[in-house]
Amino acid sequence: MRHKIIAGNWKMHKNAQETGSFLNDLINEMPEGKEVEVIVAPAFTNLMLATQILEDTNVAVAAQNMHQAEGGAFTGEISADMLTSIGVQTVILGHSERRQYFKETPALLANKVDTALRHKMRVIFCVGEELKDRKSKQFQNVVFYQLKDSLFHLPKEAWEHIVIAYEPVWAIGTGETATPEQAQEMHQFIREQIAHHYGNLADNVTILYGGSVKPDNAKTIFSQPDVDGGLVGGAALNVADFTAIINAI
Ligand code: PGA
Repeated sequence: MRHKIIAGNWKMHKNAQETGSFLNDLINEMPEGKEVEVIVAPAFTNLMLATQILEDTNVAVAAQNMHQAEGGAFTGEISADMLTSIGVQTVILGHSERRQYFKETPALLANKVDTALRHKMRVIFCVGEELKDRKSKQFQNVVFYQLKDSLFHLPKEAWEHIVIAYEPVWAIGTGETATPEQAQEMHQFIREQIAHHYGNLADNVTILYGGSVKPDNAKTIFSQPDVDGGLVGGAALNVADFTAIINAI
């Protein structure tokens, strides 16, 4: 169901002690009365700690990745069952860093999405073009194929469990943000593509913006009609910045 979400993608940051103190501070500083779901995605090693600390709060915990297999001889990997067994019901898939550094392909991601949905998990699925695609005006085409190749095989019912995050690669960790107009243009395009394949349910899909979201630019980005919140990296590592972003929605 379409609703506002602010999610913090911690990437490979924060050890157990830092995770604990951040989350305890977050609980104390959490804005009240906001109609927004707040999600944090710590490292695998700290997910259990996070679910314990956040148990009686309305902050949800997500994983940053998972393996597509049910289990088996995959040294170093984490399965959907391992995540759900500690209360993690949401997983980020298709982040550009996974695509770039770990060579995750659209077909592999389709597989991961299927596995997550089989386990009744919610997927935050990331799409986004590189700078060269924007310069050559291929940005919509690139995002269209990312959606098509990993998500458009899904049945209609599955979309209840899918959140899209549009993250232009050139804006991630660079301090450069898409303008509110660029974000809106792509979010509207994504919603139109989903509508084209699936009809009205597109109105109910939550579409987040990610890429250098900061306290001082969050409000204008979030004010766009098709932007339903943010997937935040760097600014999600600091409680004051993260709560300011939550407040901006
Ligand atoms: P950033 O990262 O906010 O540091 O640009 C966003 C992301 O990678 O999800």
